[in-house]
Amino acid sequence: MVRLGSTQNLPSRGDFEESTSSPYVEVVAVIVGVGIDLADVARYRFDERKLAWFARKVYTEVEMEYAMRKRNWPERLAGFFAAKEATRKAFGHAIPWRSVGVAHERYGKPIIELRGVAKPLMRARGLRAIHLTITHTSSVAAAVVILES
Ligand SMILES: CC(C)(COP(=O)(O)OP(=O)(O)OC[C@H]1O[C@@H](n2cnc3c(N)ncnc32)[C@H](O)[C@@H]1OP(=O)(O)O)[C@@H](O)C(=O)NCCC(=O)NCCS
Repeated sequence: MVRLGSTQNLPSRGDFEESTSSPYVEVVAVIVGVGIDLADVARYRFDERKLAWFARKVYTEVEMEYAMRKRNWPERLAGFFAAKEATRKAFGHAIPWRSVGVAHERYGKPIIELRGVAKPLMRARGLRAIHLTITHTSSVAAAVVILES
């Protein structure tokens, strides 16, 4: 029996190597990129003209739709921008703003969706996953992105 929280009875790697019918498969996840960014929320309190420009040039339809449903939409737009910048840093090069989209899973977890010219990057870099986390207050938003291969 393996007791959780105790290291005493945990199986060692050798336990599995001896067995030919072992159901265990070693999965090795490797972090191959990390990026972080902060965004000042005040800079995203756009007037109508700027909002229209950013909606065309920077944000995806999904991001705009999500943010504009919320009372504190500048925080959301700042968070999305931080996520796009953090993604660039994780990859180590520029990626067009609208080719990095932030979407949400059912319970609100944000995810990066590479689109358009950025779509081939997953395969080209041999990536299995892109992890994203976002946080925001009324004054600042932050995002961290991790690339896993
Ligand atoms: C995520 C959570 C901890 C909020 O944290 P918070 O300190 O109030 O707010 P933060 O600014 O730090 O984080 C907000 C961001 O967390 C992220 N987030 C939301 N739900 C998340 C989840 N389930 N898993 C991971 N990240 C999540 C989003 O990016 C969100 O930003 P957004 O609203 O602009 O999309 C809280 O909402 C939670 O526990 N969610 C779990 C799922 C849930 O209960 N959902 C309720 C709706 S069904």
